[in-house]
Amino acid sequence: EKGGYDHFMIKEIHEEPKTVRDTLNPRIKNDKVDIEELGMSDEEIKSISRIRIVACGSAYHTGVTAKYVFEEMARIPVEVDIASEFRYRNPILQENELVIAVSQSGETADTKEAVRMARAMGNMTLAIVNVVGSSIAREAEKVMYTWAGPEISVATTKAYSAQLIAFYLLAMKFAEVRGLLGEDEMKELIKDLKMLPEQIEMLLGNKERIQKFANRFVAAKDVFFIGRGIDYAISMEGSLKLKEISYIHSEAYAAGELKHGTISLIEEGTLVAAVATQDSVYPKTVSNIVECKTRGAFILAVTTVGNEDIEKVADYVMYIPQTNRYFTNSLAIIPLQLFGYYVSVGKGYDVDHPRNLAKSVTVE
Ligand code: F6R
Repeated sequence: EKGGYDHFMIKEIHEEPKTVRDTLNPRIKNDKVDIEELGMSDEEIKSISRIRIVACGSAYHTGVTAKYVFEEMARIPVEVDIASEFRYRNPILQENELVIAVSQSGETADTKEAVRMARAMGNMTLAIVNVVGSSIAREAEKVMYTWAGPEISVATTKAYSAQLIAFYLLAMKFAEVRGLLGEDEMKELIKDLKMLPEQIEMLLGNKERIQKFANRFVAAKDVFFIGRGIDYAISMEGSLKLKEISYIHSEAYAAGELKHGTISLIEEGTLVAAVATQDSVYPKTVSNIVECKTRGAFILAVTTVGNEDIEKVADYVMYIPQTNRYFTNSLAIIPLQLFGYYVSVGKGYDVDHPRNLAKSVTVE
Protein backbone atom coordinates (compact mmCIF):
# COMPACT_ATOMS: atom_id res chain seq x y z
CA GLU A 1 0.00 0.00 0.00
CA LYS A 2 3.02 2.28 0.43
CA GLY A 3 3.88 1.61 -3.19
CA GLY A 4 7.40 0.46 -2.40
CA TYR A 5 8.21 3.43 -0.17
CA ASP A 6 9.24 3.08 3.48
CA HIS A 7 6.60 5.50 4.74
CA PHE A 8 3.44 7.18 3.55
CA MET A 9 5.08 10.55 4.06
CA ILE A 10 7.77 9.97 1.44
CA LYS A 11 5.25 8.34 -0.89
CA GLU A 12 3.03 11.39 -0.56
CA ILE A 13 5.95 13.76 -1.14
CA HIS A 14 6.56 11.90 -4.39
CA GLU A 15 2.92 12.40 -5.31
CA GLU A 16 3.26 16.16 -5.18
CA PRO A 17 3.91 16.69 -8.90
CA LYS A 18 0.68 14.83 -9.64
CA THR A 19 -1.24 16.63 -6.92
CA VAL A 20 -0.18 19.99 -8.27
CA ARG A 21 -1.12 18.96 -11.80
CA ASP A 22 -4.51 17.57 -10.74
CA THR A 23 -5.41 20.67 -8.75
CA LEU A 24 -4.20 23.02 -11.46
CA ASN A 25 -5.01 21.57 -14.88
CA PRO A 26 -8.81 21.31 -14.69
CA ARG A 27 -8.88 25.00 -13.75
CA ILE A 28 -6.88 26.32 -16.68
CA LYS A 29 -8.79 26.84 -19.91
CA ASN A 30 -7.56 28.77 -22.94
CA ASP A 31 -4.79 30.48 -20.97
CA LYS A 32 -7.24 31.63 -18.33
CA VAL A 33 -8.11 30.62 -14.80
CA ASP A 34 -11.50 28.93 -14.80
CA ILE A 35 -13.14 28.63 -11.39
CA GLU A 36 -16.73 28.60 -12.61
CA GLU A 37 -17.23 25.76 -10.13
CA LEU A 38 -17.47 28.42 -7.39
CA GLY A 39 -20.34 30.19 -9.06
CA MET A 40 -18.95 33.61 -8.16
CA SER A 41 -19.94 36.43 -10.46
CA ASP A 42 -17.47 39.14 -11.46
CA GLU A 43 -19.62 41.56 -9.49
CA GLU A 44 -19.22 39.46 -6.37
CA ILE A 45 -15.47 39.24 -6.86
CA LYS A 46 -15.21 43.00 -7.36
CA SER A 47 -17.23 43.68 -4.24
CA ILE A 48 -14.92 41.75 -1.87
CA SER A 49 -13.72 44.28 0.69
CA ARG A 50 -11.35 42.01 2.54
CA ILE A 51 -10.40 38.34 2.72
CA ARG A 52 -10.25 36.49 6.02
CA ILE A 53 -8.43 33.16 5.98
CA VAL A 54 -9.11 30.75 8.85
CA ALA A 55 -7.29 27.47 9.32
CA CYS A 56 -5.03 25.46 11.64
CA GLY A 57 -1.46 24.19 11.40
CA SER A 58 -0.04 23.72 7.92
CA ALA A 59 -3.28 24.87 6.33
CA TYR A 60 -2.84 28.13 8.26
CA HIS A 61 0.65 28.40 6.76
CA THR A 62 -0.76 28.24 3.23
CA GLY A 63 -3.02 31.08 4.33
CA VAL A 64 -0.01 33.15 5.36
CA THR A 65 1.46 32.62 1.89
CA ALA A 66 -1.87 33.55 0.35
CA LYS A 67 -1.95 36.83 2.23
CA TYR A 68 1.23 37.96 0.48
CA VAL A 69 -0.03 36.77 -2.89
CA PHE A 70 -3.55 38.24 -2.68
CA GLU A 71 -2.39 41.56 -1.35
CA GLU A 72 0.28 42.07 -3.94
CA MET A 73 -1.40 40.52 -6.97
CA ALA A 74 -5.04 41.45 -6.38
CA ARG A 75 -4.61 44.36 -3.92
CA ILE A 76 -7.22 42.90 -1.59
CA PRO A 77 -6.41 43.22 2.12
CA VAL A 78 -6.11 39.85 3.84
CA GLU A 79 -6.24 38.80 7.49
CA VAL A 80 -5.06 35.32 8.37
CA ASP A 81 -6.48 33.83 11.53
CA ILE A 82 -5.77 30.68 13.46
CA ALA A 83 -9.24 29.15 13.62
CA SER A 84 -9.11 28.51 17.38
CA GLU A 85 -8.25 32.18 17.96
CA PHE A 86 -10.86 33.52 15.56
CA ARG A 87 -13.71 31.67 17.18
CA TYR A 88 -13.15 32.73 20.77
CA ARG A 89 -12.56 36.46 20.47
CA ASN A 90 -15.76 37.91 19.08
CA PRO A 91 -14.13 38.74 15.73
CA ILE A 92 -15.18 41.65 13.54
CA LEU A 93 -15.99 40.88 9.93
CA GLN A 94 -16.66 43.61 7.41
CA GLU A 95 -19.54 43.67 5.03
CA ASN A 96 -18.43 41.85 1.86
CA GLU A 97 -15.53 40.20 3.63
CA LEU A 98 -14.94 36.79 2.07
CA VAL A 99 -14.05 34.12 4.61
CA ILE A 100 -11.85 31.33 3.26
CA ALA A 101 -11.40 28.20 5.36
CA VAL A 102 -8.56 25.81 4.49
CA SER A 103 -8.50 22.19 5.58
CA GLN A 104 -7.13 18.92 4.29
CA SER A 105 -9.45 16.69 6.28
CA GLY A 106 -12.44 18.99 6.22
CA GLU A 107 -13.10 17.82 9.77
CA THR A 108 -10.98 20.13 11.96
CA ALA A 109 -13.36 21.25 14.70
CA ASP A 110 -12.06 24.80 15.12
CA THR A 111 -11.99 25.51 11.39
CA LYS A 112 -15.49 24.14 10.97
CA GLU A 113 -16.80 26.30 13.79
CA ALA A 114 -15.10 29.37 12.29
CA VAL A 115 -17.00 28.76 9.05
CA ARG A 116 -20.24 28.33 10.91
CA MET A 117 -19.68 31.63 12.75
CA ALA A 118 -18.82 33.49 9.56
CA ARG A 119 -21.99 32.22 7.92
CA ALA A 120 -24.03 33.23 10.93
CA MET A 121 -22.59 36.74 10.59
CA GLY A 122 -23.87 36.79 7.02
CA ASN A 123 -20.49 36.59 5.28
CA MET A 124 -19.71 34.62 2.16
CA THR A 125 -17.71 31.48 2.98
CA LEU A 126 -15.44 29.46 0.73
CA ALA A 127 -13.69 26.26 1.77
CA ILE A 128 -10.50 24.91 0.24
CA VAL A 129 -10.81 21.27 1.23
CA ASN A 130 -9.31 17.94 0.22
CA VAL A 131 -11.99 15.51 1.35
CA VAL A 132 -15.12 15.52 -0.77
CA GLY A 133 -18.31 15.76 1.25
CA SER A 134 -16.47 16.44 4.53
CA SER A 135 -18.03 18.58 7.28
CA ILE A 136 -16.28 21.80 6.28
CA ALA A 137 -17.13 21.24 2.62
CA ARG A 138 -20.76 20.94 3.66
CA GLU A 139 -20.68 23.87 6.05
CA ALA A 140 -19.23 26.42 3.60
CA GLU A 141 -21.27 28.03 0.88
CA LYS A 142 -18.63 27.47 -1.80
CA VAL A 143 -16.04 24.71 -2.09
CA MET A 144 -12.85 24.52 -4.05
CA TYR A 145 -11.42 21.02 -3.82
CA THR A 146 -7.74 20.25 -3.74
CA TRP A 147 -7.23 17.06 -5.68
CA ALA A 148 -4.49 15.53 -3.56
CA GLY A 149 -6.24 12.21 -2.95
CA PRO A 150 -6.17 10.49 0.44
CA GLU A 151 -3.36 11.67 2.68
CA ILE A 152 -2.34 9.07 5.27
CA SER A 153 0.82 10.46 6.85
CA VAL A 154 0.00 12.63 9.85
CA ALA A 155 2.44 15.28 8.64
CA THR A 156 0.82 16.89 5.63
CA THR A 157 2.80 17.35 2.43
CA LYS A 158 0.83 16.91 -0.77
CA ALA A 159 -2.35 18.53 0.56
CA TYR A 160 -0.29 21.56 1.56
CA SER A 161 1.07 21.83 -1.98
CA ALA A 162 -2.40 21.52 -3.45
CA GLN A 163 -3.75 24.24 -1.14
CA LEU A 164 -1.08 26.63 -2.40
CA ILE A 165 -2.21 26.01 -5.98
CA ALA A 166 -5.84 26.69 -5.07
CA PHE A 167 -4.81 30.01 -3.54
CA TYR A 168 -2.68 31.04 -6.53
CA LEU A 169 -5.63 30.38 -8.84
CA LEU A 170 -8.03 32.40 -6.70
CA ALA A 171 -5.61 35.31 -6.48
CA MET A 172 -5.03 35.27 -10.24
CA LYS A 173 -8.74 35.17 -10.98
CA PHE A 174 -9.53 37.94 -8.50
CA ALA A 175 -6.68 40.08 -9.86
CA GLU A 176 -7.89 39.59 -13.40
CA VAL A 177 -11.50 40.47 -12.61
CA ARG A 178 -10.36 43.54 -10.72
CA GLY A 179 -8.36 44.70 -13.75
CA LEU A 180 -4.93 44.16 -12.21
CA LEU A 181 -3.68 41.33 -14.38
CA GLY A 182 -3.37 41.70 -18.13
CA GLU A 183 -3.57 38.89 -20.67
CA ASP A 184 0.19 38.65 -21.15
CA GLU A 185 0.96 38.57 -17.44
CA MET A 186 -1.73 35.95 -16.99
CA LYS A 187 -0.16 33.80 -19.69
CA GLU A 188 3.24 34.12 -18.04
CA LEU A 189 1.86 33.11 -14.66
CA ILE A 190 0.05 30.12 -16.12
CA LYS A 191 3.17 29.04 -17.95
CA ASP A 192 5.12 29.15 -14.69
CA LEU A 193 2.40 27.26 -12.83
CA LYS A 194 2.44 24.53 -15.44
CA MET A 195 6.17 24.10 -15.00
CA LEU A 196 5.89 23.43 -11.26
CA PRO A 197 5.25 19.66 -11.45
CA GLU A 198 8.40 19.04 -13.48
CA GLN A 199 10.41 21.35 -11.26
CA ILE A 200 9.19 19.51 -8.16
CA GLU A 201 10.18 16.25 -9.86
CA MET A 202 13.66 17.69 -10.34
CA LEU A 203 13.91 18.65 -6.68
CA LEU A 204 12.86 15.14 -5.66
CA GLY A 205 15.80 13.89 -7.71
CA ASN A 206 18.09 15.51 -5.13
CA LYS A 207 16.73 13.59 -2.18
CA GLU A 208 19.90 11.60 -1.48
CA ARG A 209 21.85 14.81 -1.09
CA ILE A 210 19.26 16.10 1.38
CA GLN A 211 19.29 12.82 3.28
CA LYS A 212 23.07 13.08 3.75
CA PHE A 213 22.68 16.62 4.99
CA ALA A 214 19.80 15.65 7.31
CA ASN A 215 21.89 12.89 8.89
CA ARG A 216 24.31 15.54 10.14
CA PHE A 217 21.56 17.18 12.18
CA VAL A 218 19.84 14.29 13.92
CA ALA A 219 21.35 15.44 17.21
CA ALA A 220 20.34 19.10 16.79
CA LYS A 221 18.65 20.71 19.81
CA ASP A 222 17.33 23.94 18.36
CA VAL A 223 16.75 25.00 14.78
CA PHE A 224 15.63 28.38 13.53
CA PHE A 225 13.98 29.01 10.19
CA ILE A 226 14.08 32.59 8.94
CA GLY A 227 12.73 34.43 5.93
CA ARG A 228 10.86 37.54 4.86
CA GLY A 229 7.51 37.83 3.10
CA ILE A 230 6.60 34.60 1.33
CA ASP A 231 9.91 33.21 2.57
CA TYR A 232 8.64 33.70 6.11
CA ALA A 233 5.54 31.68 5.29
CA ILE A 234 7.75 28.91 3.86
CA SER A 235 9.86 29.04 7.03
CA MET A 236 6.80 28.46 9.19
CA GLU A 237 5.96 25.28 7.34
CA GLY A 238 9.58 24.09 7.10
CA SER A 239 9.86 24.51 10.85
CA LEU A 240 6.62 22.68 11.63
CA LYS A 241 7.57 19.78 9.35
CA LEU A 242 10.86 19.34 11.16
CA LYS A 243 9.56 19.64 14.73
CA GLU A 244 6.45 17.52 14.43
CA ILE A 245 8.20 14.38 13.20
CA SER A 246 11.77 14.76 14.50
CA TYR A 247 10.93 16.23 17.95
CA ILE A 248 13.69 18.79 17.50
CA HIS A 249 12.76 22.18 18.88
CA SER A 250 12.41 24.52 15.95
CA GLU A 251 11.00 27.99 15.40
CA ALA A 252 10.21 30.14 12.42
CA TYR A 253 10.96 33.84 12.57
CA ALA A 254 10.44 36.74 10.28
CA ALA A 255 14.13 37.30 9.53
CA GLY A 256 14.15 40.90 10.69
CA GLU A 257 12.58 39.95 14.01
CA LEU A 258 15.30 37.56 15.16
CA LYS A 259 17.52 40.28 16.53
CA HIS A 260 14.73 41.51 18.78
CA GLY A 261 15.37 38.74 21.25
CA THR A 262 15.64 35.27 19.83
CA ILE A 263 19.13 35.70 18.43
CA SER A 264 20.39 35.26 22.01
CA LEU A 265 19.64 31.54 21.60
CA ILE A 266 22.12 31.12 18.77
CA GLU A 267 25.28 29.30 19.76
CA GLU A 268 28.19 27.69 18.01
CA GLY A 269 26.71 25.20 15.53
CA THR A 270 23.00 26.08 15.90
CA LEU A 271 21.31 25.36 12.59
CA VAL A 272 19.67 28.39 11.00
CA ALA A 273 17.72 27.62 7.84
CA ALA A 274 17.37 30.82 5.87
CA VAL A 275 14.86 30.94 3.04
CA ALA A 276 15.75 33.58 0.46
CA THR A 277 13.72 33.26 -2.73
CA GLN A 278 12.28 36.78 -2.89
CA ASP A 279 14.49 39.20 -4.79
CA SER A 280 12.95 42.29 -3.21
CA VAL A 281 14.17 41.32 0.27
CA TYR A 282 17.14 39.13 -0.66
CA PRO A 283 19.88 41.54 0.50
CA LYS A 284 18.03 42.03 3.78
CA THR A 285 17.82 38.30 4.46
CA VAL A 286 21.49 37.91 3.55
CA SER A 287 22.40 40.48 6.17
CA ASN A 288 20.34 38.52 8.74
CA ILE A 289 22.27 35.40 7.69
CA VAL A 290 25.50 37.23 8.40
CA GLU A 291 24.24 38.28 11.85
CA CYS A 292 23.54 34.63 12.70
CA LYS A 293 26.78 33.38 11.22
CA THR A 294 28.80 35.89 13.23
CA ARG A 295 27.28 34.29 16.34
CA GLY A 296 28.39 30.85 15.30
CA ALA A 297 25.29 29.55 13.50
CA PHE A 298 25.55 26.90 10.83
CA ILE A 299 23.67 28.35 7.87
CA LEU A 300 21.50 26.33 5.53
CA ALA A 301 20.23 28.58 2.75
CA VAL A 302 17.30 27.77 0.50
CA THR A 303 17.41 30.01 -2.53
CA THR A 304 16.88 30.22 -6.26
CA VAL A 305 19.35 29.16 -8.92
CA GLY A 306 21.19 32.32 -9.89
CA ASN A 307 21.85 33.37 -6.28
CA GLU A 308 25.11 31.42 -6.03
CA ASP A 309 26.72 34.40 -4.30
CA ILE A 310 24.94 33.17 -1.18
CA GLU A 311 27.65 30.52 -0.87
CA LYS A 312 29.89 33.27 0.51
CA VAL A 313 27.78 33.43 3.67
CA ALA A 314 25.96 30.08 3.84
CA ASP A 315 27.51 26.77 4.88
CA TYR A 316 25.16 24.69 2.78
CA VAL A 317 22.75 25.64 0.00
CA MET A 318 19.62 23.99 -1.37
CA TYR A 319 18.74 25.51 -4.73
CA ILE A 320 15.31 25.68 -6.29
CA PRO A 321 14.68 26.31 -10.00
CA GLN A 322 13.53 29.73 -11.12
CA THR A 323 9.84 30.43 -11.06
CA ASN A 324 7.59 33.43 -10.62
CA ARG A 325 8.19 35.09 -7.25
CA TYR A 326 4.63 34.31 -6.18
CA PHE A 327 5.14 30.56 -6.56
CA THR A 328 8.47 29.90 -4.84
CA ASN A 329 6.79 28.28 -1.83
CA SER A 330 5.69 25.39 -4.06
CA LEU A 331 9.34 24.60 -4.80
CA ALA A 332 11.17 25.66 -1.64
CA ILE A 333 8.95 23.50 0.55
CA ILE A 334 10.09 20.30 -1.18
CA PRO A 335 13.66 20.21 0.18
CA LEU A 336 12.32 21.29 3.58
CA GLN A 337 9.75 18.49 3.67
CA LEU A 338 12.49 16.06 2.67
CA PHE A 339 14.76 17.48 5.35
CA GLY A 340 12.15 16.95 8.08
CA TYR A 341 11.46 13.47 6.78
CA TYR A 342 15.07 12.36 6.67
CA VAL A 343 15.91 13.78 10.10
CA SER A 344 13.03 11.72 11.50
CA VAL A 345 14.15 8.62 9.59
CA GLY A 346 17.71 9.21 10.79
CA LYS A 347 16.47 9.24 14.38
CA GLY A 348 14.57 6.02 13.78
CA TYR A 349 11.15 7.49 14.53
CA ASP A 350 7.75 6.34 13.37
CA VAL A 351 7.53 9.07 10.73
CA ASP A 352 3.91 8.52 9.77
CA HIS A 353 2.64 8.46 13.35
CA PRO A 354 4.43 11.10 15.40
CA ARG A 355 3.75 10.96 19.13
CA ASN A 356 0.81 12.94 20.52
CA LEU A 357 -0.55 13.85 17.08
CA ALA A 358 -3.68 12.81 15.22
CA LYS A 359 -4.34 13.15 11.50
CA SER A 360 -7.46 15.13 12.01
CA VAL A 361 -8.25 17.16 15.09
CA THR A 362 -11.98 16.83 15.59
CA VAL A 363 -11.87 17.92 19.21
CA GLU A 364 -11.11 21.47 20.24
C1 F6R B 1 0.92 19.36 10.02
C2 F6R B 1 -0.49 19.05 9.94
C3 F6R B 1 -1.47 19.84 10.76
C4 F6R B 1 -2.73 20.15 9.95
C5 F6R B 1 -3.79 20.80 10.84
C6 F6R B 1 -5.03 21.15 10.05
O1 F6R B 1 1.67 18.56 9.20
O2 F6R B 1 -0.89 18.16 9.22
O3 F6R B 1 -0.89 21.02 11.23
O4 F6R B 1 -2.37 20.97 8.89
O5 F6R B 1 -4.13 19.95 11.89
O6 F6R B 1 -5.65 20.01 9.54
P1 F6R B 1 -6.68 20.10 8.38
O7 F6R B 1 -5.99 20.63 7.19
O8 F6R B 1 -7.18 18.69 8.17
O9 F6R B 1 -7.78 21.03 8.83
